[in-house]
Amino acid sequence: MPEHLPRRQVLRTAGALGLGAAAAGALSGPAQATSTAGLPDKLTAMGVHHGKLEIRKDPFGTTSDGKQVDVYTFTNGQVTISMLTWGATIQRVETPDRRGRTTNISLGFDNLPDYATLSPYFGSTIGRYGNRIAKGRFTLDGTTYQIPINNGENALHGGTIGFDKKVWTAKVVQNDKAVGVAFTYVSPDGEMGFPGELTSTVTYTLDRRDTLRIDYYATVAGKPTIVNLTNHVYFNLAGEGSGSIEGHVLELNAPSYTPVDAGLIPTGEIAPTAGTPFDFSQPTAIGARIRDDHPQLVVGRGYDHNFVLGGEADDDGLRFAGRFWEPEDGRTVTVHTTEPGAQFYSGNFLDGTFQGIGNKTYRQGDAFAFETQHFPDSPNHPNFPSTVLRPGQTYTSTTTYTFGTK
Ligand code: GLA
Repeated sequence: MPEHLPRRQVLRTAGALGLGAAAAGALSGPAQATSTAGLPDKLTAMGVHHGKLEIRKDPFGTTSDGKQVDVYTFTNGQVTISMLTWGATIQRVETPDRRGRTTNISLGFDNLPDYATLSPYFGSTIGRYGNRIAKGRFTLDGTTYQIPINNGENALHGGTIGFDKKVWTAKVVQNDKAVGVAFTYVSPDGEMGFPGELTSTVTYTLDRRDTLRIDYYATVAGKPTIVNLTNHVYFNLAGEGSGSIEGHVLELNAPSYTPVDAGLIPTGEIAPTAGTPFDFSQPTAIGARIRDDHPQLVVGRGYDHNFVLGGEADDDGLRFAGRFWEPEDGRTVTVHTTEPGAQFYSGNFLDGTFQGIGNKTYRQGDAFAFETQHFPDSPNHPNFPSTVLRPGQTYTSTTTYTFGTK
């Protein structure tokens, strides 16, 4: 556990994690390291600290059909992340604020039944197709496919039982630079109406620079399919359950966005953000213009839009997508991605009807999500980047979340 933190804080953190006093001294549980391949190996002088990389595995619950679900908790001594095999879900993200006070900044639950019945995708890995497909229907190579409708008249996040509601297999990944878990799920041909057997491996690793890196990898067998994987972590950088995120300051690398119709399906237009409440090229509070008289803020009930990312990628194919900053406690999260877009969602459908992990009720605007992705409904918009994956091809995608303070 964190060597630089006072003992009292270590115990409090471990207690909050449900790890118990024994875990406060050593986070290394029964988890076994099985692979070191494909981990980030860039360590720059800036921001490096030297906490010990540790991981442990604990039971979390059992599904209604008797499958065991585990929670993996991994730390670099400063940031601590808990992930469930249910939905390859980020359950907790504990980071220090400007003054070194650590809290959980990610919305979630402390029990499996709430994830199974209440969760609006808190921290979930989303598949086979992130965001909406109009009327759940698309045509590929002349065949029309139907995905079950679960959002108005559309399909959202892979249909009624998406990858967020599956138990994934897990393998620990650990080397001297990063620690985390590789989650794998095999989706049979025809599951949720999608063609082809899709094998997805999504690897979450935390390095010593406080970067959580998500590497998505998928192949399809038998038939071509469509793929759009993402993660739906919700953050409140002042702490989960602490109130509104309207004061968070956002900077986005997004010269344009994809306007939507009343069902939140893109119209097909790629519209400039300049001069609109969607322009976050200069750091601006999320709440500054959220009530402006703009038709897209009305249909979205706030921000719930795909932003088209600009700028050049670095050698890794990653480019800056956005940065969120909470000015009171000073936490920041900076996102880079290989994806062409990101859904910035201002928590509009959180409606105060349930409580989360800290026994606080989540209300509208109490968190934001920033889902890196290909554009919603791409299969029905030939002008959008393609989401088709064919047998023999490999789907890859990488997103990084870097935690810090300012
Ligand atoms: C995405 C969608 C939102 C909402 C959330 C989940 O962000 O774009 O409209 O459905 O998922 O609640």
